[in-house]
Amino acid sequence: MKKETKSIFSCSECGYQSVRWLGRCPDCGGWNTFIEEVPRSKKTAPLSITSSPEKITEIKTEKFLRAQTGVNEFDRVIGGGIVPGSLILLAGEPGVGKSTLLLSIGGRLAAEGKKVLYISAEESKNQVKMRAERLGAISESLYLLSTTEMPSIKNGIDILKPEIVIVDSIQTVFDPELPSIPGSVSQVRENAGFFLTYAKDSGCSIFLVGHITKEGIIAGPKVLEHIVDVVLSFEGEIKSDLRVLRATKNRFGSTMEIGVFSMEENGLVEIPDASALFLPESKKTLPGAVIFPSQEGSRTILVEIQCLVTPTYYGVPKRSVTGLDYNRISMVTAVIEKKLRYNLNAYDVYFNTGGGLKVFEPAVDLAVALSCISSLKDKPPLEQCVAIGEIALTGEIRPVSQIPQRIKEASRLGYNKAIVPEGNIKDIKDQSIQIYPVRWLKEAVENFLVNP
Ligand SMILES: Nc1ncnc2c1ncn2[C@@H]1O[C@H](COP(=O)(O)OP(=O)(O)OP(=O)(O)O)[C@@H](O)[C@H]1O
Ligand SMILES: [Mg+2]
Repeated sequence: MKKETKSIFSCSECGYQSVRWLGRCPDCGGWNTFIEEVPRSKKTAPLSITSSPEKITEIKTEKFLRAQTGVNEFDRVIGGGIVPGSLILLAGEPGVGKSTLLLSIGGRLAAEGKKVLYISAEESKNQVKMRAERLGAISESLYLLSTTEMPSIKNGIDILKPEIVIVDSIQTVFDPELPSIPGSVSQVRENAGFFLTYAKDSGCSIFLVGHITKEGIIAGPKVLEHIVDVVLSFEGEIKSDLRVLRATKNRFGSTMEIGVFSMEENGLVEIPDASALFLPESKKTLPGAVIFPSQEGSRTILVEIQCLVTPTYYGVPKRSVTGLDYNRISMVTAVIEKKLRYNLNAYDVYFNTGGGLKVFEPAVDLAVALSCISSLKDKPPLEQCVAIGEIALTGEIRPVSQIPQRIKEASRLGYNKAIVPEGNIKDIKDQSIQIYPVRWLKEAVENFLVNP
């Protein structure tokens, strides 16, 4: 008799489900990512009805008091402090400093008298204590629990009744009652579900550490990002000391702000003035490098947009993009080809941002286009000049937001010329910098490159 199989196969990278095992995920393209999962038997207990509709006018709201950690770079990113009962996911590459950041935040909160439970499902209590000593995070109200098993975690939380819980990491905690293996989609989803319910019922704020895959997406089902209140991503090149914290989702604040830190011997040190950190040391202009004042929430950070255009030796020209939006770059290069009649088909084109800062705002388009043409023609850009502007498909330079702040910061850091969209001219009052308004990409190229 043919055995009836009830299991399903889920992709451990993106959560795609299939009734049979697949070598390659049709959704995210990951190889060998399918894991067999047996669905939980259906509960037979009758459903209990716990809530009924209420008039919005009759619902009493409590004004929540955000818990401030005192680490300004962190507090600003999460919207001014930790909201009680919130579930926060911190994602980052291996070794970027997730445990370091959360342990020091936990230490700070514990020092203020909050009961903090740090659950380490990756490291022993000894390792965590040694790190806490190095970070100066030792405090009477900081409790450690080193386990991977959900029953011990639930028990620990029950006994302690903490105000803050840190789970390091959500992918390594494991519930033996679930039929699937640790790290599988249903384990991650069910365990995160427990933390969500607990946070909402008790008012305890919970941090979950999440791993990210090679492609930079949070490992585990997309649903993890949906159920949490805040998704923080911790970025930086492991070889450099600089780390950037940003919120990619926030139910209690803006997602525009970033926090900048430096990874040092005694932990993460805040860098309140980060405007010039991502700039090259020398102000000498070189072909292919254009300075762009990027707006990250309330601050302006000047960053070098770099491009290298070299003849291609293979049939298909290579395009490589780091730190910028690939689709946006394709659009800008298409506009260059069509409107300026440069042929990029015979060239490999590489784009990069200085210092590893990620720049995704459209205002960077003009700097991208100019760096590309500057490298193609091997002509350096104008000295001490910044470029700002969004490029439309027609080749027109469109106005961008927050131009006065960008110009002010560029001027403060010693830049004395700025190419800006014509439509922004009325916003600029700054006299300390020479403004070149442009309406078309062609004009910008003529203004900006030395002997184009
Ligand atoms: N003694 C030290 N001095 C300076 N920096 C250190 C020291 N020890 C560790 N680090 C830094 O801390 C980083 C590791 O931090 P941490 O363990 O918090 O990262 P993580 O994101 O939690 O990594 P994982 O994903 O492996 O858990 C190292 O890559 C290193 O840069
Ligand atoms: Mg860690």
